[in-house]
Amino acid sequence: MNSLTIAAVQTSPVFGEVRANVDAALALVPPGCDLAVLPELFATGYQFRSAAEALSLAETPGDPDAYSLRRLAACARDTGTTLAAGLCERRDGTVYNSAVLVGPDGTVGLYRKVHLFWDEKTIFAPGDLGFPVFPACGTTVGLMVCFDWAFPEAARSLALGGAQVIAHPSNLLLPWCPEAMKTRCLENRVAAATANRVGTEERTGRALTFNGLSQVVSPLGEVLQRLEGTGTGVAVGKIDLAQTDKLFTPRNDLFLDRRPDQYRL
Ligand code: ACM
Repeated sequence: MNSLTIAAVQTSPVFGEVRANVDAALALVPPGCDLAVLPELFATGYQFRSAAEALSLAETPGDPDAYSLRRLAACARDTGTTLAAGLCERRDGTVYNSAVLVGPDGTVGLYRKVHLFWDEKTIFAPGDLGFPVFPACGTTVGLMVCFDWAFPEAARSLALGGAQVIAHPSNLLLPWCPEAMKTRCLENRVAAATANRVGTEERTGRALTFNGLSQVVSPLGEVLQRLEGTGTGVAVGKIDLAQTDKLFTPRNDLFLDRRPDQYRL
């Protein structure tokens, strides 16, 4: 496959309204795209009061009763679109801020957010799966979640692992990610779809307003479409996979020219 149509779906979930949030998100998945990315914690909402509350809303991959996972699988199967989405994940007694990649054939890839943001540190366990990359929709897809954008090592690890596309479910609060992702894409020659949410949650005495601007960025760092900071919608971009070639100039290859012996790791 030489090109790939990717969608970043921007939603406005209501905390705890899992069924309505899943309905609204899946209704926005546009027909005919190869990969659609939904926001971080898209089914539950973001601002948990405690780890116990997060556990009570969490789902476990492989559990046939896991509601949002079942709906994602059915949508992928029925539409032929691979879906990436943020998941409040329970594994035994531990809760992770995770992302799943669900293919039309039922395959599920899992990533657990490595760089937890602010109060997430009191709710979730830090990710322990590294930065895995999955064959999907005719390419290789890597997952990272929201604040991982601020750590170039995350996108670099995915690219070094062979990802041509980064699916980036997000619940962004700070303004810098959309511009920064242009550089993450260019320096790794990967495409990225950042799917953010909008709306406000105030459940712990601190109001959080999520800033939208969901986007699809090409491997050359071009913003193919970026949404506004309010309102739901879908950003769509057609990715030329030939642009993921690492040759930057005739004498510079972004990966072969790396000098890990000179880096402070
Ligand atoms: C974030 O990582 N949800 C800001």
